[in-house]
Formats: sequence, C-alpha cells, structure tokens
Amino acid sequence: MSPASRPIRLVFLGPPGAGKGTQAKMLEERFGARQISTGDLLRQHVADGTHLGQEARGYMDSGGLVPDSIIIGMMEQQLANLDAFVLDGFPRTVGQAVALDEMLARLSKPLHAVMLFEASREMLLRRLAGRWTNPRNGRTYNTEFNPPRVAAIDDQDGGPLVQRPDDTPGVVAKRLDTYEAQTSPLVDYYAKTGLLVRLDGLKAIEDVTADVRRALDARNGAAV
Ligand code: AP5
Repeated sequence: MSPASRPIRLVFLGPPGAGKGTQAKMLEERFGARQISTGDLLRQHVADGTHLGQEARGYMDSGGLVPDSIIIGMMEQQLANLDAFVLDGFPRTVGQAVALDEMLARLSKPLHAVMLFEASREMLLRRLAGRWTNPRNGRTYNTEFNPPRVAAIDDQDGGPLVQRPDDTPGVVAKRLDTYEAQTSPLVDYYAKTGLLVRLDGLKAIEDVTADVRRALDARNGAAV
C-alpha cells in the first residue's frame, strides 16, 4: 500500500468465518489501520466480568445478537478518538448502520468503503470448526487452512491458543442464521450508498488480502 495519503475508514461485513477478523488483523499488523472488533471488545468485557459483559454473554453463547443499545453505546466511545479504523463485525443490524451514519456525520469522518466478504455456508462451517484464537490479541489460526507451527501455540507470542465457546456446531448454525436474518439486509443498505465492495472470501488468505489492497487503491488512493 502506498504511503498514507489520507486515513482509511472501513467497514468489514460478512458472515461468521468469512475472514473479516483475519483481514482486519492483516491491515492492522502491516499498515497500522486500527481494527475495532465488536466481538473482541465484548469477549474482553465477558472476561473482565463487567456489567456489560454479564449482559452480553447470554446472547453471544446462544448465537444471537447483543442488543443495539449496548453495542451503539460501546462504539460511540471507540470512534470518538480515532481517525482511521476498520470496523470488524459492526454494524450488524440496520439500526446499528443508521446509528453509525449519524455518529460519523457528527464526527465528520465519512466511510471510504464497506467490504463484503462472501463464502459458502459449507466453507464457513469448516473454517469455524478448525479455528484457534489467541485470546490476548484476537489473532486466528486454522488447523486446516492456516495452522500454527506448534499445535495450539501462537507463532508470534508463544502463548496458548483457545477455541471459542461459540464455535460449536450448534451455535455456529445459529450464528449463520442470525447473519442471514439480521445482518444480510445491510448488503442492500450499503449497495445503495455506492460504498459496497464485494470480495471473494473463498480465495486463499493472501489472495483476499491482495484483493483488499487493490480495492483500497481503486478507492481514490485511500491509504493507511
Ligand atoms: P464476532 O467475534 O464478531 O464473530 P463473527 O461475526 O461471528 O465473526 P467471526 O469472528 O466468527 O468470523 P470472521 O469473519 O472474523 O472470521 P475469521 O477471520 O476469524 O461476534 C461474536 C458474537 O458477538 C456474535 O455472535 C454476537 O453475539 C456478538 N456481537 C459481535 N458484534 C456484534 C454487533 N455489532 N451487534 C450485536 N452483537 C454482536 O476466520 C475464521 C477462520 O477461517 C479462522 O480460523 C481463519 O484462520 C480462517 N480463514 C480466514 N480467512 C481464510 C481464507 N481466506 N482461507 C482459509 N481460511 C481462512
């Protein structure tokens, strides 16, 4: 990616397992675009035992969505002080998208693109079954597609990897259904704004990264 010409502000959209977190981490590690993952923020609240975490936990464990009022309040705090960001997993309802539009208009920080990662249900199930996560920073591996050098150990910090409690087959099926019912309407929502970029999430990780970079370059030289 070329040297920074302006800060980028992106939304990463797509079903569970499509690769949003993997690509957001890539942009953050290589180019310094700050990943804001609502899932990671919520899991941190759960781990810390905060009031918000206690409220959110039941929704997350069952594969449903945490109520908009909780999510929007949490994101307002995050966005206020950032110029460049990749929103990973937010917005996830039309209500959240409308709230995001209002927040960014108030802050005079328009979005540059909404990247939609598309993949088949069969592939999403395989990816989530094989996912191992570093709970300290959210970095992910996959036993089938992207294995760590030593099983269940992070290549970079040498600490243990864990499997997420919501990656069991029953909860994954519910999360995919929740995406179809509540989040997929955002594809039309953003298509109408001209911000939507469709990406083939079935490609290999590096090839998807290359497509993300090409899409960014095409968007008027936006750089991180
Ligand atoms: P969240 O943590 O956001 O989960 P998610 O959206 O279900 O997304 P995932 O993290 O499962 O998938 P991903 O697309 O990031 O895939 P990844 O890159 O890891 O949310 C969890 C829960 O929190 C929700 O269910 C909800 O309850 C709550 N929540 C969060 N945000 C909310 C909101 N805004 N509103 C309300 N509730 C909210 O990749 C998956 C695996 O595949 C990895 O193993 C990876 O190594 C591998 N992989 C990735 N890309 C490729 C590739 N191209 N080829 C091969 N393997 C690949």
